[in-house]
Amino acid sequence: DERTFVMVKPDGVQRGLIGEIVSRFEDRGLKLVGGKFVQLDEELAKEHYGEHEDKPFFDGLVEFITSGPVFAMVWEGADATRQVRAMVGETDPTESAPGTIRGDFGLDLGHNVIHASDHEDEGANEREIDLFFDDDELVDYDLDTSAWVYEEEDH
Ligand code: GTP
Ligand code: MG
Repeated sequence: DERTFVMVKPDGVQRGLIGEIVSRFEDRGLKLVGGKFVQLDEELAKEHYGEHEDKPFFDGLVEFITSGPVFAMVWEGADATRQVRAMVGETDPTESAPGTIRGDFGLDLGHNVIHASDHEDEGANEREIDLFFDDDELVDYDLDTSAWVYEEEDH
């Protein structure tokens, strides 16, 4: 099944939203295959957000994402990347529908609580998972509830 990279940003960590966010993905039926609490350094932050290097907000973004610990995760499930992005909402929380994570917990573009891999950027998932996790930090296992989440067996 598809794996996608997700990260609770420093504002989400400080506001005590890790548990809430993890619960939403668990409740959806997605499977957690990796998770770690990390303090990004400037180098990792710049690599992670490399696509935005020429944007005017880049320096502020790097400063923010390194300003405190983040909670990085890998979630697995059917159509995981697209489904997680839908649960996250729009980049700007004020444009995000209620019921989405940013729509429920954010009011500011720069402090939008969570990062998720872009489903329109093919390869973003693998790139970001590799950047944050070693292979042996990702766990292969079966969730007993999968048989109730999915009609087909091979999940
Ligand atoms: P991420 O999941 O964090 O990658 O957000 P995203 O994919 O929804 O948006 P994008 O990758 O385009 O931008 C990365 C981050 O930069 C966003 O989450 C915002 O916090 C920030 N950002 C994007 N656009 C702007 C902007 O126009 N101004 C400012 N100040 N920040 C921005
Ligand atoms: Mg992005």
